[in-house]
Order: sequence, then C-alpha cells, then structure tokens
Amino acid sequence: MKKVILDCDPGHDDAFAIMLAVQHLDVLGITTIGGNCTLENVTKNALKILEVLDKTDIPVYAGHEGPMVAPLVTAPQFHGETGLDGPDLPEPKIKAKKKHAVDFIIETVMNTDDVTLIATGPLTNIAEAISREPRVAERAKEIYIMGGSVTFGNWTPAAEFNIFVDPEAAYRVFNSGLLVNMCGINLTRQCCLTFEHMQKFREIGTKAANLAADLLEFFIGSSVSVSKLTGANLHDACPVAWIINPKLIKAVPMHIDIELKGEYTRGMTVCDYRHLRGTEPHIDLYRTPTMEPRGEAPNAQGALELDFERFMDLLYETLKNYN
Ligand code: BDR
Ligand code: CA
Repeated sequence: MKKVILDCDPGHDDAFAIMLAVQHLDVLGITTIGGNCTLENVTKNALKILEVLDKTDIPVYAGHEGPMVAPLVTAPQFHGETGLDGPDLPEPKIKAKKKHAVDFIIETVMNTDDVTLIATGPLTNIAEAISREPRVAERAKEIYIMGGSVTFGNWTPAAEFNIFVDPEAAYRVFNSGLLVNMCGINLTRQCCLTFEHMQKFREIGTKAANLAADLLEFFIGSSVSVSKLTGANLHDACPVAWIINPKLIKAVPMHIDIELKGEYTRGMTVCDYRHLRGTEPHIDLYRTPTMEPRGEAPNAQGALELDFERFMDLLYETLKNYN
C-alpha cells in the first residue's frame, strides 16, 4: 500500500477523501488545516469520520488555524456552520495528538521513504513544512492536491477556493521542486453526484454508506442553491482516487505558477501547456504531445479528464467494504 499523509479541512468532500484513503492507502496520519471551517471544527470533523469508519488507530494532528499572510476565508455556505452539517454525529471520543501537524509532516517525511503527500485544503501546512525543512520537497515522493484549475475558478472567476485562501502557500509548494499532481476544479466538476447516487449509498446500507448519503444530501442542497449546480462535486475524493487507480484520470505535464498580485486574478493557477496546444485543447491534447515546451519545464501534472463511471465503482465498492 502507498504511504500517504492526508492534509485536509473536512468538509463534506474531504470526508469522502478520508473514506477512500483510509481503506486503500497506508495513511500515516491525517493533518488538518483551517479552511472550510475553523481549525477546531475541521479537526473534530476528521475525528468523527474516523470513528464512524472504525479507523481510530489513524493519528490526527491539528495544523495551522489559517494562512500565514492572508486572513482566513471559510465556506459555511457550502459546508454549514460546523464544516460538516447534515449528518448527526456524536462528539468524538478520540482526540488529536499533541504534536503540531507541521512537525508531524517534517518528521515523517524525513524518516520514511516514499511518502506521498495529499492536500485537500489550503496548502499552508505543507508550505510551512517545506519552508522549515526544504528537504521535505526532495524526500517526499510527490504531492496530489485538490486545488486550482487548468481553466476557470470557482471562488472567483480565476481562482479556486483552496488556492485562493492561501496563494502564498501554494506558490511555495508549486515552486519547491516537488512534483504537483493537480486535480483542479476543471477536473472535479466532472465528478458530480446527484440524489440518485445518494439513493444507491442508502441501499448499500453500511454505517459508512449512510454517512456518505447524509453528507451528500446536505452537500447537494448547498451546491444546488449556492452554485446552481445540478449536483455536488466530490472535489477532494478525486486526488485520492487518482492515487488509488492512476487510470481514472488523464493528466498532462505542464508548468503551473500562482498569481499573487492580480486585482482580479489573485490565487489563479497559471497553467502553461502551450507545448501541447491543439486546435481544441481538451480533445487534441493527447494527440499532439510532441512539441517542445515553450515556457519553463513542467513542475506539475494537470488533471483534465475523469473516468466518472469507474470512479463511482471505486466509491461504491469502498462503502460496501466498511461496516
Ligand atoms: C475545495 O474547496 C472546499 O470547499 C472543498 O472542500 C474543496 O477542497 C473546492 O474548491
Ligand atoms: Ca477541502
């Protein structure tokens, strides 16, 4: 099993990321970051989810309350006041470890070979770990993130939420030498679940599947009313699914940088894939990968296409395998 650290801010879709990760990957620890909600709440939410899944042996470490530079922006309109509104979960019995998330990330990566990092919230903890110990970027195998976009944003026309919340941290990570596998909003919009999917979760009937159904019910409600979507995007489940089965996602190498200053574009992931340009990028990309890169060497794989059917198969199977 691949060894991973999952840095997250649960969050409904983060909860699905946890469900996939703890069953299919060797999760060395879950670290939390203020993002969708306060650090206190997202940490509590991570603990609650692990209890439902009977995975209380996985350690949880709380990280930063918010970004180093910018003020914290949260997303109650999507995730509710608790960060995980919808299911009625008891207060967790287990507690987060005393160690700070950043210390855990540094120590684990420095002492363990081939750790893959996963980040489904703002990149503050990961950036801080790399700043304090730059060898983290050499020692870690790679990072998979939900964040950014190869096309347009969601929080602003140009920026996706996780990058928008802490662009300085994202800048640090994308320029660290660590290969970034980026599941941007362009990809995760293809992962859209409706009430039909929720019904199937209910039919599966395990504790985990019931939790998934309750989470999805709330998340569909907020996504439809706030964003006028036709369902809920399980953004954060995508990078985890990608690690579990690389065939689920098609990605291309590109250079990605982070806009820090733009009046309209702060937090934008500026993706240079001109070397792959065809007449219709998202169709021709795979057929024209022969031109020389024009800009800087690729530092990332930008995800473009999701095999949604196979993604759902993986998710159903996962929920069946829990109690
Ligand atoms: C991202 O923002 C958060 O609200 C979600 O949990 C996801 O990580 C999507 O833009
Ligand atoms: Ca998230």
